[in-house]
Amino acid sequence: TDQDMAALVAGRVLDVPDFPQPGIVFKDLMPLFADGPAFRQVVDGIVAHHGPDSFDVVAGIEARGFVVAAAIAYATGAGVVPIRKAGKLPRAAYSASYSLEYGEATLEVHQDAFMTGQRVLLVDDVLATGGTAGAALDLIVQANGSVAGFSVLLELGFLEGRKRVAPREVHAVLTV
Ligand code: PRP
Repeated sequence: TDQDMAALVAGRVLDVPDFPQPGIVFKDLMPLFADGPAFRQVVDGIVAHHGPDSFDVVAGIEARGFVVAAAIAYATGAGVVPIRKAGKLPRAAYSASYSLEYGEATLEVHQDAFMTGQRVLLVDDVLATGGTAGAALDLIVQANGSVAGFSVLLELGFLEGRKRVAPREVHAVLTV
């Protein structure tokens, strides 16, 4: 059930105070990634939520979103498109800048990453302020993809990232 999956995440996230900056409590999901059966259940749950035939490709946001995206892609036979931090992609890319809970950042995607209308499931580990997700969604649209859904493992509800992503829907396995 959804509650079981939320509990799998809740039991495998570590709070790291003052990382990467003083005052920020970092949500570390590496214990979930490291637990094979739990990670598989959560991945399968995300696929079931959207439906395995509802997307053609999975876009993952650097860096931890890559882990989630690759697992979903392998489980469903979909492809993976990495959405990367600035300066990492080797070919012509679209860029989107956004403000973060701590600082500023830019995301990029290859201009030819999607076939026109290709259905894209976007995934990341954490939704905090929503700046990252908002930029990634803009990039998918700019690159002619069609957003099929957006999932995160963990949503920090008090930061109201959902508002920044609206009117798109957010599927969070766990919201705290
Ligand atoms: C974290 C997290 C999300 C983003 C969420 O990544 O993995 O991608 O922040 O924050 P937001 O909703 O406030 O935008 P981070 O910036 O730490 O990058 P990394 O994965 O490359 O370490």
